[in-house]
Amino acid sequence: MDIIEAIRARMSIRDFHPDPVPKEILKEILGIAVRAPSAENSQPWGFTVLAGDVLDNVRQANIKSLNSGAPPNPDLHYEGWPSGSVYRRRQVEIAKQIFKLMEIPKEDKEKRERWMERGFRYFNAPAAIIISVDRLVHYPRPLFDIGAITQNICLAALKYGLGTCISNQGVTYPEVLNKFAGIPASKRIKISIAIGYPNYDFPANKVVSTREPVENITTWCGFE
Ligand SMILES: Cc1cc2nc3c(=O)[nH]c(=O)nc-3n(C[C@H](O)[C@H](O)[C@H](O)COP(=O)(O)O)c2cc1C
Repeated sequence: MDIIEAIRARMSIRDFHPDPVPKEILKEILGIAVRAPSAENSQPWGFTVLAGDVLDNVRQANIKSLNSGAPPNPDLHYEGWPSGSVYRRRQVEIAKQIFKLMEIPKEDKEKRERWMERGFRYFNAPAAIIISVDRLVHYPRPLFDIGAITQNICLAALKYGLGTCISNQGVTYPEVLNKFAGIPASKRIKISIAIGYPNYDFPANKVVSTREPVENITTWCGFE
């Protein structure tokens, strides 16, 4: 698969087969991904790769926190997209696409809650990669670098027939990852990537997200 094909083929996968991903393959993917650029080659990232009982314990504790109404405590605090903005419109559009295929009506609170839990369970993936950064690194400087390596992981995974879903939901409760995955409090836990063999029969895995045409978001300067 060439690079352009990989960029075009990557999509968020939100259900996986239970088959484990061999550690050797995950190691190879990370080994490729660390070729990502980083500011002054600082390589501010660190990985914690979860599978088996540890991942199951994390899933359960995440769901427990979610359902008990525990306040979300992500390292990266963010507001929702501004109401009425194009960003909010795009968010609503992808949610509608997913809910339509999943046959989840707007008023079905129960089904919506079950859907929400899916992200906190790493979409049932057999493995999850958690990316963290030392707290001593001045913040938010490393966010660009984390974005670059995250994309590299998702693209490299395709070569091995693996799918991924980047997820904020998976790092909503850092204390869960501190406790069950042993990630020390000296790290900022930035993002999770669910990874595994995609279940292409799952309706949400058929969603093709849309993109704004380049002409709408680009200003050309100095061209004929
Ligand atoms: C920083 C970041 C956080 C994300 N968090 C979630 C998440 O918590 N749950 C989820 O279902 N998808 C999450 N996604 C996936 C996006 O919804 C997805 O990339 C977007 O809708 C475009 O779809 P595509 O990845 O299939 O092209 C996240 C993506 C990024 C880049």
